[in-house]
Amino acid sequence: MSEIHEDFSPQQLCLLRSDHAGEVGAVNIYKGILWCTRDPEIIAFAQCHLKTESKHLASVETILRSEHRSIFSPLWVIAGRTLGVLGVLGGKNFLFSTIASVEEFVVDHYIQQYPFFSGEVKELLLEMTEDEDAHREDAANRTSERGFKVWSFIVKKGCGLAVLAALRA
Ligand SMILES: [Fe+2]
Ligand SMILES: [Fe+2]
Repeated sequence: MSEIHEDFSPQQLCLLRSDHAGEVGAVNIYKGILWCTRDPEIIAFAQCHLKTESKHLASVETILRSEHRSIFSPLWVIAGRTLGVLGVLGGKNFLFSTIASVEEFVVDHYIQQYPFFSGEVKELLLEMTEDEDAHREDAANRTSERGFKVWSFIVKKGCGLAVLAALRA
C-alpha cells in the first residue's frame, strides 16, 4: 500500500489506533504459538497467518504515524504472546477455537468501521476483513470442538476491553 498523506479526524485516528493495536496483538498471538509448538500442522497454520498479520501491521503502520499509536503497545505484545502460548497449552481444539473467536471479533471490529472511512483506507479495511474472515474459517474448520463457549466469551470480552483501551490512548 502506498503511503497515504491524509488528515484523519480525531475519531478516525482513534479507530486506526485500535486497528494498529489489534494487528500488533495478532502478530504476537501467532508468534506466541510458534514459540511453543512443535506440531507441524500448528506451525504451518501459524506461519501462514503470521505472514498475513505482518502485512496488515505494515499497512496500518504506513498510514498511522508512530505518535498516533497506542501507548499500551507493549501490553498488546504481551497479551498476544500470552494468548498464543495459552492456546497451545490448551491443545489443538482449544487453540483453533481460540483463534476462531479472536478472528470473529476482528471481523466485526473492522466491519463496524466501514462507515467512517473511504478511499484507500476503506479498501484496506475491506481487504483485511476478508483475510481475517479466512483466518476465522481456517481455524474453525480445524476444530471439531464447540464446547469452549465460556472461553470464547472471555476472549471476545478481553479483545473488546483492549479495543476500548486503545481507542482512548
Ligand atoms: Fe490482521
Ligand atoms: Fe487474522
